[in-house]
Amino acid sequence: MTETLVPQAAEAGPAPAKRLFIKTYGCQMNVYDSERMADVLRPLGYATTEAVEDADFVILNTCHIREKAAEKVYSELGKMRELKDAKDGAMTIAVAGCVAQAEGEEIMRRQPAVDLVVGPQAYHQLPELLTRTARARGERIGADFAPVDKFDALPATRGTTGPTAFLTVQEGCDKFCTFCVVPYTRGAEWSRPLAAVLDEARALADRGVREVTLLGQNVNAYDGERADGKKATLAELAYALAEIPGLDRIRYTTSHPNDMSDDLIAAHGDLDALMPYLHLPVQSGSDRILRLMNRKHGRQKYFDLIERIRAARPDMAMSGDFIVGFPGETERDFEDTLDLVRQVNYASAFSFMYSPRPGTPAAGMGAQVAPEVSKDRLHRLQALLLEQQVAFNAAQAGRTLNVLFEKKGRHGRQAIGRSPYLQSVHVDDADHLIGKIVPVHIVSGQQNSLTGKLIAPVPSPRDLGVSVLGA
Ligand code: SAH
Ligand code: SF4
Ligand code: F3S
Repeated sequence: MTETLVPQAAEAGPAPAKRLFIKTYGCQMNVYDSERMADVLRPLGYATTEAVEDADFVILNTCHIREKAAEKVYSELGKMRELKDAKDGAMTIAVAGCVAQAEGEEIMRRQPAVDLVVGPQAYHQLPELLTRTARARGERIGADFAPVDKFDALPATRGTTGPTAFLTVQEGCDKFCTFCVVPYTRGAEWSRPLAAVLDEARALADRGVREVTLLGQNVNAYDGERADGKKATLAELAYALAEIPGLDRIRYTTSHPNDMSDDLIAAHGDLDALMPYLHLPVQSGSDRILRLMNRKHGRQKYFDLIERIRAARPDMAMSGDFIVGFPGETERDFEDTLDLVRQVNYASAFSFMYSPRPGTPAAGMGAQVAPEVSKDRLHRLQALLLEQQVAFNAAQAGRTLNVLFEKKGRHGRQAIGRSPYLQSVHVDDADHLIGKIVPVHIVSGQQNSLTGKLIAPVPSPRDLGVSVLGA
């Protein structure tokens, strides 16, 4: 697909510059989608801006996962309306993402300043929608599209720059955990064909991307079609990606324990490019709550999995998601969660207070836990997880870790990169190394980052890919 890599300016043609502002909420898939919306709109003459007040077109890419996330959208829209009024209406406002999918009509009703609502499978329709909006407001589009339409219609060229990139390989969820809206907002599980993913990855590598994070609501359930009509697994995809020159690091998120297959675990043992960091949410350590959540596995299965994963890759850094205060959760159930956390020992993790979501089975369950009780449990769980994170980071002191430098830091010539375990690493006098993977001596580990020092001698120009006459 390299022949499609024409310069942006040529692709955009002589169209006048219009400004696009996108605000992204929620998960990494929304981050990917926002980039792709910018890609779709670029040929229409839209360039992205960081300044919302300058924007001709504003997109809020929203998240419906918890009540707070969804409600934020309405207050943000209130602010956008004021801006639009101040510009005498010369601003188009679109709501995209999972709130758009879940409550499109309500958005239109509650905020008349919104011009269009577009669900996650319909982003490729944005150019057409924009033209139509010029004539009549109030378009709502979304639910009826399959992801295949979207991915087929998105431009091959991505505007992404920088050494790391997200790449969506799978969308949707068939798991129907009783607390979760995702199966309703993102639809059924669907995987992109292997060749399409590899093409996009090659195009990214050609632009200097060294690390891709494969995205999916259940990414390890990936089963994209191969050229021979059979299905490929995520492990097969990882092996194929590792062959792409320049692509040195592969990550993936989010995985479900029930889809953690043997070949994927084995791949962690023999594929250097597959990074030793795994986000494997368990939600609760109580078998009773796991059953009520419809997670379809118990705590022992999770322990067995972790043991097999660590046998394949002993230094695997584990990450997870937890929900406290699920309906019916007792102190005893919660203690099972603390116990699970102690046994697994996480490098990092996310934890949330249960939020009842409209239309999900758990919202109608009796025995909702009082907010003060949930809050107290959340604090206790977070204190334990933080302790583990701090210890994990501190334990890196004295080691040498390969760091992929991503961007400049705040001080002088400082650069910031990532360790294999996804930790942020700050290194002085390293801004010439952005885009490179370099061994770094770790001096100390703090709560949220590591401090490192370049190992003398600093890599030679040849290591850095700079050609030096006679060298
Ligand atoms: N597919 C992923 C999770 C996607 S949602 C998985 O199965 O693990 C991201 C996280 O949000 C979930 O792991 C869960 O911890 C949290 N979450 C989802 N619904 C929630 C709700 N109703 N209340 C609180 N947290 C929720
Ligand atoms: Fe939601 Fe469960 Fe699907 Fe994850 S697996 S997206 S938590 S329904
Ligand atoms: Fe939120 Fe939708 Fe992602 S609900 S977490 S933006 S899939």
